[in-house]
Amino acid sequence: MILDEVRAHGVERLVEPGLYREAMSRLVAAVHVVTTQGPAGRAGFTATAVASVSDSPPTLLVCLNRRIRSAGAFRQSGSFAVNLLSGEQQAVAESFGGRLSLAGEQRFSVGHWREGTLGVPCLEGAVAVFECALIESRTIATHDVLVGRVEAVTLGPDREKLAYVGRGYKVV
Ligand SMILES: Cc1cc2nc3c(=O)[nH]c(=O)nc-3n(C[C@H](O)[C@H](O)[C@H](O)COP(=O)(O)O)c2cc1C
Repeated sequence: MILDEVRAHGVERLVEPGLYREAMSRLVAAVHVVTTQGPAGRAGFTATAVASVSDSPPTLLVCLNRRIRSAGAFRQSGSFAVNLLSGEQQAVAESFGGRLSLAGEQRFSVGHWREGTLGVPCLEGAVAVFECALIESRTIATHDVLVGRVEAVTLGPDREKLAYVGRGYKVV
């Protein structure tokens, strides 16, 4: 039992990471692919940890695990794109999700990609694409929180979206 394990750790560590992950697995999260154009070419990763910060000016944040191979590309590039996936784009999420051992440019063989106004890779047919200038990056625990000012938005068809919940993809 997870709760027994938690109690065994004592009061100093009430929220054990496994319990936290279990609770977070119940969150219905939208699936995005976050991309950039780094010094060594295009890079990207699948992300659910994306949130709106403000609409004045339009600002969002992305949480990037610092161990991801392309983390350096995101640090060095001044811009990135957040591609919100449709229900038909699960294959794109899988290509960028880190479980198929595809790296860098290989990941872009799935989906149709164009260069956006900031020079970052934008996914055709995405529900929405937010092109961002990186205005702040803060390291918190294992992740870099990237704060982006939204410089351009492309609206795709308002069709079914791809979600991730219970450790699996769902179309909602
Ligand atoms: C559904 C899903 C959501 C994910 N969300 C995030 C996220 O929000 N932030 C993050 O850093 N990694 C997230 N990941 C993991 C990264 O996509 C993965 O670690 C990365 O693609 C690995 O890249 P690498 O093989 O080049 O190191 C998620 C993976 C999946 C499948």
